[in-house]
Amino acid sequence: MCGIFAYMNYRVPRTRKEIFETLIKGLQRLEYRGYDSAGVAIDGNNNEVKERHIQLVKKRGNVKALDEELYKQDSMDLEVEFETHFGIAHTRWATHGVPSVVNSHPQRSDKGNEFVVIHNGIITNYKDLRKFLESKGYEFESETDTETIAKLIKYVFDNREIEDITFSTLVERVIQQLVSDKSHLFKEIHVGGSTLGTRRGSPLLIGVRSEHKLSTEQIPILYRTRSIENAKNICKSRTKRLDSSTCLHAVGDKAVEFFFASDASAIIEHTNRVIFLEDDDIAAVADGKLSIHRVKRSASDDPSRAIQTLQMELQQIMKGNFSAFMQKEIFEQPESVFNTMRGRVNFETSTVLLGGLKAHLKEIRRCRRLIVIGCGTSYHAALATRQVLEELTELPVMVELASDFLDRNTPVFRDDVCFFISQSGETADTLLALRYCKDRGALTVGVTNTVGSSISRETDCGVHINAGPEIGVASTKAYTSQFISLVMFGLMMSEDRISLQDRRREIILGLQSLPELIKEVLSLDEKIHDLALELYMQRSLLVMGRGYNYATCLEGALKIKEITYMHSEGILAGELKHGPLALIDKQMPIIMIIMKDPCFAKCQNALQQITARQGRPIILCSKDDTESSKFAYKMIELPPTVDCLQGVLSVIPLQLLSFHLAVLRGYDVDFPRNLAKSVTVE
Ligand code: F6R
Repeated sequence: MCGIFAYMNYRVPRTRKEIFETLIKGLQRLEYRGYDSAGVAIDGNNNEVKERHIQLVKKRGNVKALDEELYKQDSMDLEVEFETHFGIAHTRWATHGVPSVVNSHPQRSDKGNEFVVIHNGIITNYKDLRKFLESKGYEFESETDTETIAKLIKYVFDNREIEDITFSTLVERVIQQLVSDKSHLFKEIHVGGSTLGTRRGSPLLIGVRSEHKLSTEQIPILYRTRSIENAKNICKSRTKRLDSSTCLHAVGDKAVEFFFASDASAIIEHTNRVIFLEDDDIAAVADGKLSIHRVKRSASDDPSRAIQTLQMELQQIMKGNFSAFMQKEIFEQPESVFNTMRGRVNFETSTVLLGGLKAHLKEIRRCRRLIVIGCGTSYHAALATRQVLEELTELPVMVELASDFLDRNTPVFRDDVCFFISQSGETADTLLALRYCKDRGALTVGVTNTVGSSISRETDCGVHINAGPEIGVASTKAYTSQFISLVMFGLMMSEDRISLQDRRREIILGLQSLPELIKEVLSLDEKIHDLALELYMQRSLLVMGRGYNYATCLEGALKIKEITYMHSEGILAGELKHGPLALIDKQMPIIMIIMKDPCFAKCQNALQQITARQGRPIILCSKDDTESSKFAYKMIELPPTVDCLQGVLSVIPLQLLSFHLAVLRGYDVDFPRNLAKSVTVE
């Protein structure tokens, strides 16, 4: 939901062209977060204090369009070198105001561009603020809520009571007036050429690249102590927890580069040393020195921030030989699923250990019920595993869409355990549901794919699904890894249930063979492409199944509608005769998922009802199924596995089908219209 990126080179000479390239590359990595329009703010000259001014370049459309626009700017000499420079860049997913140049970011305080801001999130009280500022004579040019921030900072600056107010103080005063969850990056020309990033809710991290290694003499500075002995002792107990403010003060004397971004994928190619900002942090860079302050200080506030080393590899976020991230991610599933289980499932002893839940297992076992909450694909992963969770935990399991859960003010109790499933770990609805459950005293468990995300930090404990970065807007490998993470949780809970031992062993054996079976399913790609050739001109596509595969139908239909823009519906086969049957005729394409599980006979009934209305079912079935083939218009045969794991395999043909349909219809698979990867607004 909007990507923000900034690059500061301090005493590292860079030409304007190199700065453009870094900013554009950063935006391209974040483009999955929004791609309606994009813009940058850069220095308009060689940073002479008296003549300093900020230049904005903005363009409607994607980052490529902005890139082209940058090189059309006659007034900008590409070879001019900046020893020190700060550029900010934004790619937008429109919330307030249509996609247009004037509504794109950066937004500015006035026609002189004294203060500019980029922003990710929504400002709830922007109308009141705008009314107030208009009454004071500030003229607005866009329909965005973001412009309010730019005008407000100018207002606070114009009305400052002290001449040499710092940029941090200025921004702190502005932030305190805003009601919202958001992150911002500010740039200004007034108060010393510094820049500033703030975080509340929406993520913001800072990458640091410096040739300079800290010397032994600097260790005491780092740990705020005068003696090396003291420093060494502190060092032993706090090896990772550096005080970033003091540490980077030391670094700031030398050449250093800072990268601010909404997520790590935009930083990893420059450095793997990052600081994740916490809510209400203000990070300021002035004279090459980074310091972190808190908006709301309290006695218990610890302003130190760990410098973390990212484990992500650049190649993980490159497309490689694939034409789209989505395609690459579908094909990565044998490895992503393996990585989800790695070090957790012991196939020899048939045991499962999720380290993040271990300390809370007793409490979870004593709970009254499990509530599993998510949105979109993450919700489907919860739905897909509900039955096996009920079976293995012997607890009631409620599966909830986060937005609806909140709308209903659902009763939650202290002895509930609430799971929050989210690839990004930042989805606003899921995050709000998490806070709602926390307020009511429930134990909260995060199941996310993003280390350091809001959901993983705010939950009491959790599971990282280890699927690797997912860039394609349509979620694929995260779904199968979420699925497996939840099954692993069920297995861990049932370890001491004598009556469930055979079933547990069966499931664990099934998990072991999944990566190989996924490869087998992926080898059907050509066949699925042929099917797509037959279907891509259709307007609708129904997907029907029941039991363990109802969620597969919903997930398949979601994939189809979001990237092909065809109408698609997931239908519970048990509901067919209660309405959807009216849609069936010989034109309406319908995919049926029929697996050798306890619902097999009932699915055969539904198949009869379809063929009796001259429907022409495309059947996804097990390759040992001789019955369904008699009635199939087309068949996709899948390797069989344990009933409760079959959904991991049966969703893959639907992921592939949606991909091929979208390509054949001429759409950009990774950037479906109107959508964004990380939905950080309600
Ligand atoms: C669909 C899709 C979305 C997300 C949903 C939740 O392909 O990606 O439906 O699943 O927006 O996102 P996360 O999992 O990041 O909370």
